[in-house]
Amino acid sequence: MFESLKAAPADAILGLIAEYRDDPRPDKIDLGVGVYRTRQGETPVLKVVKRAEQVLVDTQKSKTYIGTAGAADFNAAMQALTFGDSKFDDRLATLQTPGGSGSLRVAAGMILRASPDAAVWVSEPTWANHIPLLGGAGVNLTPYPYYDTKKHVIRIDEMIAALRSAPAGDIVLLHACCHNPSGLDPSMEEWQAIADVIVKRKLIPFIDIAYQGFAHDLDRDAYPIRLMAERVPEMIVSSSCSKNFGLYRDRVGTLSLLAANRASRDIVNSQVNNLVRTIYSVPPDHGAAVVSLILNDQELRRAWIMELEEMRERLQEMRTLLSNALVEKMPGRDFSHLVRATGMFCFLGITAAEVARLKQEFGIYMVDSSRINVAGITPDNVSYLAESIAATLQNR
Ligand code: LMR
Repeated sequence: MFESLKAAPADAILGLIAEYRDDPRPDKIDLGVGVYRTRQGETPVLKVVKRAEQVLVDTQKSKTYIGTAGAADFNAAMQALTFGDSKFDDRLATLQTPGGSGSLRVAAGMILRASPDAAVWVSEPTWANHIPLLGGAGVNLTPYPYYDTKKHVIRIDEMIAALRSAPAGDIVLLHACCHNPSGLDPSMEEWQAIADVIVKRKLIPFIDIAYQGFAHDLDRDAYPIRLMAERVPEMIVSSSCSKNFGLYRDRVGTLSLLAANRASRDIVNSQVNNLVRTIYSVPPDHGAAVVSLILNDQELRRAWIMELEEMRERLQEMRTLLSNALVEKMPGRDFSHLVRATGMFCFLGITAAEVARLKQEFGIYMVDSSRINVAGITPDNVSYLAESIAATLQNR
């Protein structure tokens, strides 16, 4: 049976981890996979996570199954973190999922159960795994314009025009904040305009929130979710704790399904739990238990918010550092979009051939689209990075 298979291509993002690891050059720089790094280039376990893990080790009495929806205290805390207001509680079914990807996969299954012919509209470009993950699950995908690769701005008018043409009942996948890969999010006014077209065309928002706290603060970053929840009868929200709690490999996320009323919510809840049982049965517990301890304890929560703030500020600082270093090496060129973006990513705005040259000649790794993870920049490597980019672009 297996002899009929051909090797699958390396993953566009995760494939870079092994390539970078195996590169012996001492000055290599990893701007690939989206993980946070300190000034020392490390991705440490957050201090507050260590503290909560210790509490868990000391107090956890059992590792018996917790059921398809995961832990109620975790789900309630995450629902409050994203929706911000308990007035939606009667209409919400929230489940603990194996990371944001697990959440997206269950969401795809629910779309297929509830509305198999609906298309999911995805931003052009979007996270490199959105399309294989959702498309691989069997969902129909349609792109909407999002990022202008020349001007480095959001194509808001074209996006809205595209959504105006979507049939009622189609689903619109949106990034709540820190758009991956561009780093550029709609302004609050633009979110209002997006909500207007969604309401008018009777579309269903599907919001992916993987970087809450990395753009502005926890509440501001959840603005599109809260705005849409006020205005639409139904919505899907996939959240991830990989980045803001640094729990990448522990796989922690939620799926929230907003229904028109409590009776519909109860049916949705039964369906989604039934679906989870057929995919992974029950979600992993450890990371979610840690998050629950942090969110439900005032002191731990405060400590987490401070660590999150530190991560956010470092990312923004590195954007400025790189943009200034690039302008210094290449006077007259505009790299201001690096600073206008938020979160981990932005496009450098170079070709795939130039990306390949940076890897081969200088040991600088990034996704082929020239998406960079700014967490890979440090005050020590920024000069080498800017020089290498300038050398690569000199004959343009
Ligand atoms: C990324 O975009 O680099 C991260 O979300 C990691 C991943 O799984 O792709």
